[in-house]
Amino acid sequence: MTRITVMVSGGGTNLQAVIDAAEAGTLGDASVVLVISSNAGAYALERAARHGIPSVVIGREEYPDPEERTGAILDALKGAETDLVVLAGYMSVLPPALIRAYRDRIINIHPALLPKFGGMGMYGIRVHRAVLAAGEAESGATVHFVDEGVDTGRIILQERVPVLEGDSPETLAARVLEAEHRILPEAIRRLTKAD
Ligand code: GRF
Repeated sequence: MTRITVMVSGGGTNLQAVIDAAEAGTLGDASVVLVISSNAGAYALERAARHGIPSVVIGREEYPDPEERTGAILDALKGAETDLVVLAGYMSVLPPALIRAYRDRIINIHPALLPKFGGMGMYGIRVHRAVLAAGEAESGATVHFVDEGVDTGRIILQERVPVLEGDSPETLAARVLEAEHRILPEAIRRLTKAD
């Protein structure tokens, strides 16, 4: 069984999609064993609690020193015997020590068709604002491996969605988010299906 730790910062709808897939038996040979949040107020923590999944808050408040924060995350990942790290709305850049320790075993969900509309500062509603400003006919979501760059790792899976006449950043974000909820569990299923 592949042991997954999901890292979150906010509402946790992507975490919920992964939990639902695991409970429906469609996540392959994988289950969520831990949730790490960078934010004590993240609603994602409620979602974890409701499904009996242990969680821990490791953020700037709890660990102001970056080295200690990295150490705490590594300890939590190790303590849960994590095989695969899933970033789902996690808003901090991972430290190199973490990426080295879990090389090619960290994936992220990004709300655009990478390599376009990715990189530093391209997160949340800003992504969809930029897509509309660029006059794109379509957008989408990407699951990719995490490397030392920002949104630069090898792409695992993408789903395209149309940009519609009259779209606002919010209406586009909602359409892309639905695609995220489909491809994140699917990417995990493909990565972890028992050979
Ligand atoms: C979503 O917009 C997603 O694109 C990005 O983080 C945001 C929040 O996701 N990955 P969630 O609802 O907290 O999963």
